[in-house]
Amino acid sequence: MKLPTLTVQTPAKVNPVLEVLSKRADGFHELALVFQAVALYDELSFTEVRDGVRFTVLHSPEPLAADDSNLVVKAAKLFLKEVLGDRHGVSIELKKRIPLAAGLGGGSSDAAATLRGLDWLFETGAGEGRLAEMAAKLGSDVPFFLTGGAALGTGRGERITPWPKALEMPVVLVKPEEGLSTPDVYRSGKAVMTSGEKAKSFQKVLHEGDLGKIAGSLFNGLEPAALALMPEIGEIKKQLVDAGALCAMVSGSGPTVFALAETQEKAENAAWKLEGEGWTVFVTKTIPTGIERI
Ligand code: C5P
Repeated sequence: MKLPTLTVQTPAKVNPVLEVLSKRADGFHELALVFQAVALYDELSFTEVRDGVRFTVLHSPEPLAADDSNLVVKAAKLFLKEVLGDRHGVSIELKKRIPLAAGLGGGSSDAAATLRGLDWLFETGAGEGRLAEMAAKLGSDVPFFLTGGAALGTGRGERITPWPKALEMPVVLVKPEEGLSTPDVYRSGKAVMTSGEKAKSFQKVLHEGDLGKIAGSLFNGLEPAALALMPEIGEIKKQLVDAGALCAMVSGSGPTVFALAETQEKAENAAWKLEGEGWTVFVTKTIPTGIERI
């Protein structure tokens, strides 16, 4: 008998605004940031097994550890222990499309999809509060992916306030060949500290929908740090704007640069001009949704 399998798709994110407010005593940084989901997806399938966690990477753009260091395995073990009392097991298969160590939240998205997928598979009704708590234990970016769309993140990024309206724009993503380590970016001493007002006021700008204003409101306090570690990012930003994008900014701790374009055609044109430089280029769009069953 073939056991039922549940399959979900889970998106990447960009950060239209990321403000670093201060360094905390626990080593993390206090943030105010805007998360926005984009239509670049990883796919995860979950099948119940007798016990334990089996994890297989079916496809990945780069080598990816499938051991206990993977956030999917960590999320599954946490869920089995905390919600199911280790009475069940699961086999998980991952098809990865979101680049690794890219500032696109791929690992965090997979972790959130694992919590959501197991909740759906075992029909536990764990509740949003409990899922968000487990998500925050796994990483600062994980809780956002339980809601998707657009949201404000505060604290270390794990406290999420979903926004009713998401950005709706074509996006070009350009990732340099090498990744960047998030702790290295924070530790570089080059982050710019601001008050948090830009992140909060972005909701109003989003609501008004003026593309010029949206473009002018992008901000990332980690961008100078990412640029110092990888100067190539400056070249990507310049080329994207020269190629007709409205604006371009590092996403999260980088190194991926995301550009907003007025139309799909302009996004495709810009992407076409940047291909062939050794960079990974995607044309996608911002979305109002998050993890979905497929
Ligand atoms: O929470 P997460 O595991 O994603 O964080 C990875 C690293 O990024 C942390 O160990 C820390 O060095 C840095 N970080 C930070 N402040 C945040 C989020 C992450 O300093 N708000």
